[in-house]
Amino acid sequence: MKIFKRILLGLFMVFIVIQFIRPARNEGGQVLSTDITKSVNVPDKVLDVFKNSCYDCHSNTTRYPWYVNIQPMGWMMARHVNEGKLNLNFSDFGTYSKRKQANKLRAIAESINDGSMPISSYTVMHTDSKLSEQNKKMISDWVAQTRDSIDRKN
Ligand code: HEC
Repeated sequence: MKIFKRILLGLFMVFIVIQFIRPARNEGGQVLSTDITKSVNVPDKVLDVFKNSCYDCHSNTTRYPWYVNIQPMGWMMARHVNEGKLNLNFSDFGTYSKRKQANKLRAIAESINDGSMPISSYTVMHTDSKLSEQNKKMISDWVAQTRDSIDRKN
């Protein structure tokens, strides 16, 4: 019993200590000239879906929920944001080559249609970020149109 109490106390102390290790926040704020809306035509309805379901991990501005103040939740969120931005950053879309833009657009439609995005550990906490069938179709249609417009510019 004594050892069990010590282990619990040890774990509790670890928990307290890790609270002081806080990852930097991803809060860019303003819309840059490299933003996706400056490169291709993004209707408001489409942008709203991206902002609501994707921007937390794929843009320079994350809306942080309260629980990121509790570690290791904050660390998990930071990892998702860093990895997500490496793969696709809507705020940096304009810096991609035309070819890369077209590829990323295709990847967006694929990830939405196969249900891999937004990732499930996120939709558990952000239930309203799940995409309805109607929104999936809207995004797919937009991707198809937009990819065509990019190809023609080349
Ligand atoms: C909770 C964070 C998070 C959210 C929200 C999120 N993603 Fe992701 N996304 C990631 C991470 C992490 C990766 C890289 C690892 C992977 O592929 O699973 C990724 C990868 C991707 C890729 C792959 C890029 C490539 O070139 O193959 C695409 C496309 C993508 N996400 C699109 C989206 C779209 C569209 C949404 C919104 C509907 C979205 N994501 C929402 C975290 C997220």
